Amino acid sequence: MESGRKVDRDAFRGVPGSTHYRDVPCGLIDASWAGRSVHVAGWVHRRRDKGGVKFVLLRDRTGLVQLAFEPERTPADVIAAAGALNPEDVLWIRGDIEARPPGAVNPDMATGEVEIRVREMTVLASSDPLPILVAIPPEEDLPSEELRLRHRVLDLRRAELQRNFVTRHLATNGARASLSQQGFLEVETPFLTRRTPEGARDYLVPSRIHHGEFYALPQSPQLYKQLLMAAGFDRYFQVARCLRDEDLRADRQPEFTQIDVEMAFVAEDDVFAVCERMLFDMFASTLDREIPVPFPRMTWAEAVESYGTDKPDLRIDWRIRDFSQALGGRGFGIVDGAIEAGGRVRGIVVPGGAALSRSRLDAINETARRSGAKGALWMKVTEDGFTGPAARAVDDEAGSILRSDFGVEPGDLVLMIAGPDSESSPALDVLRRELATELGASSEGEEWVWVTDFPLFEADPETGEPAASHHPFTMPVDVTPEELLADPFSVRSRAYDLVLNGTELASGSIRCHEPALQRAILEALGMTAEQVDARFGFLLEAFRYGVPPHGGFALGLDRLVALMVGVSSLRDVIAFPKTTAARGLMEGAPSAVDNELLADLGIRLDGPRAGGTDD
Ligand code: AMO
Repeated sequence: MESGRKVDRDAFRGVPGSTHYRDVPCGLIDASWAGRSVHVAGWVHRRRDKGGVKFVLLRDRTGLVQLAFEPERTPADVIAAAGALNPEDVLWIRGDIEARPPGAVNPDMATGEVEIRVREMTVLASSDPLPILVAIPPEEDLPSEELRLRHRVLDLRRAELQRNFVTRHLATNGARASLSQQGFLEVETPFLTRRTPEGARDYLVPSRIHHGEFYALPQSPQLYKQLLMAAGFDRYFQVARCLRDEDLRADRQPEFTQIDVEMAFVAEDDVFAVCERMLFDMFASTLDREIPVPFPRMTWAEAVESYGTDKPDLRIDWRIRDFSQALGGRGFGIVDGAIEAGGRVRGIVVPGGAALSRSRLDAINETARRSGAKGALWMKVTEDGFTGPAARAVDDEAGSILRSDFGVEPGDLVLMIAGPDSESSPALDVLRRELATELGASSEGEEWVWVTDFPLFEADPETGEPAASHHPFTMPVDVTPEELLADPFSVRSRAYDLVLNGTELASGSIRCHEPALQRAILEALGMTAEQVDARFGFLLEAFRYGVPPHGGFALGLDRLVALMVGVSSLRDVIAFPKTTAARGLMEGAPSAVDNELLADLGIRLDGPRAGGTDD
């Protein structure tokens, strides 16, 4: 490709992205380049013919530039070839950058002041007809997600998705730079490991050498990072891949990434300060925005009491209140019955909620049931008093308490759940968020909060036995091993979560570094002393030779980036994600393997095989 006006390659030295095939990436060409001859390369985004002139929008990661094929400058055979181009053909172009005439300037395009008059064109690779479009017209819906995941390579070419990965890159860099500056060392930990309980199932890898034995892929580097503290590393971080076999949702992937951090000689304030500084730096370097640090804090007990959840969305300022005193003992059976059974009547005052229709209130009742409550009680506040099913509990005294202590006003809806807190909290959490969204009562912006003082254990929903609320390596508060084993559910812990707009972004704790207490926690979870030794002997042993007090956190990078770019699905910020059925649709994972391979691993399948093998 050498003829005509000579390309002045020196002029482009140092331009990021300048390579053998191109002097400058498409999206970086602006009016200051006018008058130069260049090589550019990229994909055919769109093509249009206007009289004798053909136009092609050429695309690369940086953006689009217009190519003009016109008879005065472009050889006839090149113009003819341009007429046969397909979307997504890959081109190598030599041409002259020129300012567009004033009427032809496109203010919506970063390179809209210029175009490239083509002199030569090589088709580096041609594209077959596309199963999904890359250049989707703005008025058209996206193809189904299943189709897009199947053809992920094409889908990833869309500018929206490319932008998400730029943000992800900047955020990851921001975290690395901030933590490095704060004295942290990046250390990698194993992928082939043994089980680390984080509350999900493990992905297991069979050992070929040791038949019947399995590695577990890490649910997180939890134990390794604690061992690094015992090993004297002081301040560790890792951009860590975590693998968990759990039920998937929009905000959960089986493979995800944590910014994983651990530090020695720390208490909560130290950990929070490091995390806040890291997030401040990440937002500043990624979005050029200052976030309000330090973040407010709230105890777990307060979060559950006032918001019904340990992940409160503080953009909604409605709080859950206790109506038991105000409405109890006034002869309304549902209320009195719930209180006599040891429960309470808790609810929210919904400003403007009196306008909700009867059918909407029936649907709210259904939502409450689906969330585990027996149903929702409601009453509307009018100028003349209270109406609706729960109004039966409102005599004159109750009415004045509602007005004075609860601030109810005409036009409000009082929505309540009678029963044990374990039923009312989750249902009120759902109703609070649903109604606030519906009535526009959620503020814009970001509300961060640290939730602290979690209980060490919660009851397993199926067995009622203690299960770790965070993970079993969390420091309990003021308790001896004997006391812990005698009454595990009363023990509080030094665990914390960082919540943004109702999403749990990060989680961590000050760790239990006392071997006897750690052993008691594991035994409270149902392990025998022998099982503790077999599974966690390596940790307890490391703690016998001088372990510093330590703590840390892990931040869900995928979730943070999704919030930064404003998407609800983690699939939009992970290059090759899995479906909710944990499949990789493009590459076809998981897949069956043939019997020979299984025999090598000492595995024989029980029952019919799914699908064919790859081999
Ligand atoms: P935890 O299990 O709470 O803590 O995880 C920390 C953060 O990781 C993110 N996260 C996920 N993101 C996407 N898909 C998933 N399946 C998923 N699961 C978790 C969340 C969460 O807040 N080792 C401890 C941390 C510690 O104690 O230091 C841990 O992994 O944003």
